[in-house]
Amino acid sequence: MENLISLVNKLQRACTALGDHGEESALPTLWDSLPAIAVVGGQSSGKSSVLESIVGRDFLPRGSGIVTRRPLVLQLHKINEGKEYGEFLHLPRKKFTDFAAVRKEISDETDRETGRTKQISTVPIHLSIYSPNVVNLTLIDLPGLTKVAVDGQSDSIVQDIENMVRSFIEKPNCIILAISPANQDLATSDAIKISRDVDPKGERTFGVLTKIDLMDKGTDAVDILEGKSYRLQFPWIGVVNRSQADINKSVDMINARQREREYFANTPEYKHLAHRMGSEHLGIMLSKHLETVIKSRIPGLQSLISKSILELEMELDRLGKPIATDAGGKLRQIMDTCRTFDQIYKEHLDGLRPGGDKIY
Ligand code: GDP
Ligand code: NA
Ligand code: MG
Repeated sequence: MENLISLVNKLQRACTALGDHGEESALPTLWDSLPAIAVVGGQSSGKSSVLESIVGRDFLPRGSGIVTRRPLVLQLHKINEGKEYGEFLHLPRKKFTDFAAVRKEISDETDRETGRTKQISTVPIHLSIYSPNVVNLTLIDLPGLTKVAVDGQSDSIVQDIENMVRSFIEKPNCIILAISPANQDLATSDAIKISRDVDPKGERTFGVLTKIDLMDKGTDAVDILEGKSYRLQFPWIGVVNRSQADINKSVDMINARQREREYFANTPEYKHLAHRMGSEHLGIMLSKHLETVIKSRIPGLQSLISKSILELEMELDRLGKPIATDAGGKLRQIMDTCRTFDQIYKEHLDGLRPGGDKIY
């Protein structure tokens, strides 16, 4: 059976590809109701590093200043075999097997929208990565929160970034991955400040502590990782990403993960927490959580999907048959995905009936 997360991924892509044609229908509401995970934090807190660790690949643009200037919707698809590749929604049919080329395309596509002005844009870039080494997950990378505008940027950029981040994380279906660096006071963490505003009880916020290896000698992060400094419903997760020196020396992700594992296992303060630390654990836990959230939302999604199917049928009728047009093809594609979802939902209900086979 098709995995629920990959079905939701398909719906997300289909809704986006449909663009203008969806505006009059239930589809925009549908897109807003699909759960996803947004990564938030201050500049240089380690957001890109955490994302790359989860994916196990180098593919995000780096540099000083505001590098991420458009939301990046990153869909990870686990495939059973074959070589891993990336695909952009704006470049359908082009398979990227070279991840340096993925990085360049993200950067070029950012500039295409913002015109190299270093301004930001709320228009997302959609990237899918197909790999045997990922867990099914949808992650959204957002510009880093900042306190000052730099070279050539208008003063409004600070507020613009905050507004953009807020517009994603204030949706109740958004799971927040709040990134705070361990070598700064948690009380000053931009990630904690903004997530507390939209999720005061910490019910949909995952706290991630980066740069644990960079803490001052004689200090440790045990109180934070045990949830004693700032309480969230979910356990905090500590990570050790590659340092700048590692990146310059091209230390690869497999090595980096191995070192991260050893770091937690061999540091006396963290030994007792080692089983729930690190990027690998973070990825697995997020995927499980996302699946749970999707399952709990199935009834709501289902009624929206039924409504969308009806509207799509009407739209297809209006376009006339046979439909050779682009829009017709896209409409069919989304309708097929909706129908599959509908089917799975019914199987899910069967599975809940006494005596029925448990499906999940
Ligand atoms: P972003 O601006 O939030 O996306 O941050 P980046 O992921 O680009 O990281 C900023 C810098 O911090 C880079 O030079 C990273 O190598 C470094 N960095 C991130 N996480 C860690 C970590 O856990 N340990 C160490 N030593 N360096 C880190
Ligand atoms: Na921060
Ligand atoms: Mg970054």
